[in-house]
Amino acid sequence: MNSKALAHCYQEIPSPADLNLEIPPDCGAEELFTKPFLILHAVSDLYTARTALGLALDLGWEELLRRGASVDELLEGFQPPSRIPAVWILQFLVAKGLLFQEGPRYRLEGTPDLDLQELREIAEREAPGHLQNLDLLDAVRSHVQPYFTEGKSGEACLFDLAVFPLWLDYFRNENILYRSNNLFALAVLRSSLKPGCRILELGGGAGSFAQLLSRMGANTGELGQISDYRFTDIAPTFLRRAQRGLKTLAPGIPFSFSSLDINRPLDDQGLAGATFDAIVGINVLHVAKRLPETLQDLKQHLVPAGQLILGECLKPDLARPIYLEFFFQFMASFTEVETDPILRPTHGFLTPEAWIRILESAGFKDVHDIPRVRHLMDRFPAFYVGAFSATR
Ligand SMILES: C[S@@+](CC[C@H](N)C(=O)[O-])C[C@H]1O[C@@H](n2cnc3c(N)ncnc32)[C@H](O)[C@@H]1O
Repeated sequence: MNSKALAHCYQEIPSPADLNLEIPPDCGAEELFTKPFLILHAVSDLYTARTALGLALDLGWEELLRRGASVDELLEGFQPPSRIPAVWILQFLVAKGLLFQEGPRYRLEGTPDLDLQELREIAEREAPGHLQNLDLLDAVRSHVQPYFTEGKSGEACLFDLAVFPLWLDYFRNENILYRSNNLFALAVLRSSLKPGCRILELGGGAGSFAQLLSRMGANTGELGQISDYRFTDIAPTFLRRAQRGLKTLAPGIPFSFSSLDINRPLDDQGLAGATFDAIVGINVLHVAKRLPETLQDLKQHLVPAGQLILGECLKPDLARPIYLEFFFQFMASFTEVETDPILRPTHGFLTPEAWIRILESAGFKDVHDIPRVRHLMDRFPAFYVGAFSATR
């Protein structure tokens, strides 16, 4: 796609009623599939492609790519873990028409359009206030080279003091692309709140889900039904920020805070015997090292008929790279998970069908996606989010 093609991406803007999103009208569905949302997705996709090619050129691959080179040839002299992101970048660039693949070789032809400024201008004109998303992509490109050349971990490259604020800016409800990750899971949670209900949030990060819950439940009396909202994360930085700020940013929610690693039994982390009415995880469960085991453990910590509610970035096809994976290919937590040919065929984001399969195989009942994501993905190839509800 080139920047002219962006104009086509929002020609069909349906209403939520037309889409039958299966969430109540007061859950923010009207914020989806707006012109700014669709344009920003398309701009981000193209910006990522140009950034990824820019990174390949920064790594000195141009001459080899002009001749046509295999992954092994491109990676000669680079650190071994570079293979995962390198393969992802090459395949993504092929999918975007910026490289050509001939058998095992990747070739660069002509003069690719790498203009980022033009895309920034479109983003600012059509979806003002989202340039930080593009800044994050620039920061990944400028900070990640030591991953390839020195074997520095992706986490160390990309969570340093210069880049961390950009991640915080990204994972906010004010970012129309990110808010959709929270919207559907929140609709499920709100519809299942009962008096005295106890909620556990996994990998709560910067707290955007709780903030949206507080905002949307503010005038409905829903928040009064929650007796405990246990906010957890593995990262001390996130936990400390949440402890300092969430009571003010998400008023009305009775928070408690604790550290929790989804890769360790909950019983070993102060939750022996504890059960919850709902366990929520937004964009966290895909980093579980042994996902089937983690799901089993979470099930044991739900009350009978309690719900596991996930918000996840989703792929239409496991074999096809999507732009949202670019940042994460450098993170060991994202890539180093146990795979299984049936249940967990790849690391990273999964398809809606793969999530349903793995949740059902963990013994959850009444597993479904909200909305029915497949038909949305068929209509909007850039629709990458959904929620899952799974009952104990
Ligand atoms: C993509 S962020 C999502 C954050 C938050 N849920 C949101 O939507 O804004 C992933 C979060 O998972 C946390 N995380 C990563 N590995 C984890 C683990 N093993 N156990 C618990 N949390 C983890 C990270 O610290 C981060 O806050």
